[in-house]
Amino acid sequence: MSLMDAAREVRERAYAPYSKFKVGAALRSEDGQVFAGCNVENVAYPEGTCAEAGAIAAMVAAGERTIVEVVVVTDGATPGTPCGGCRQRIREFAGPATWVHSVSSTGVVVSTTVAELLPHSFGPEFLGTTKS
Ligand code: THU
Repeated sequence: MSLMDAAREVRERAYAPYSKFKVGAALRSEDGQVFAGCNVENVAYPEGTCAEAGAIAAMVAAGERTIVEVVVVTDGATPGTPCGGCRQRIREFAGPATWVHSVSSTGVVVSTTVAELLPHSFGPEFLGTTKS
């Protein structure tokens, strides 16, 4: 399945009764698998989780560690780019040149690299940590 189809499909299942803003994210890992996630809100608002976090958790749970491409689909006419926290989450498992495509529900696409979304970012290499 394409990342676009996976993100659109999972967005339908988002649980967003408070913001009414449904988000779907899909990513491809290094071995070609597709992982998807949607936002899951909570009545205790800070406990809600973003779509990107769900997709990344699914990837890690499956044993994958490297993101090669991301698609995020949001409500509305203007594509919603990943929030600051999710930029850092993606950066953990992606390279600076990895593409992140932000897509509106009407099909407008904004494509950026991880480095564009999060310039001068802090990453695992600063700690000398290997991603084992
Ligand atoms: N949201 C995401 O799922 N990903 C983002 O990158 C931005 C925001 C969700 C969180 C919340 O459920 C809703 O969108 C409104 O902020």
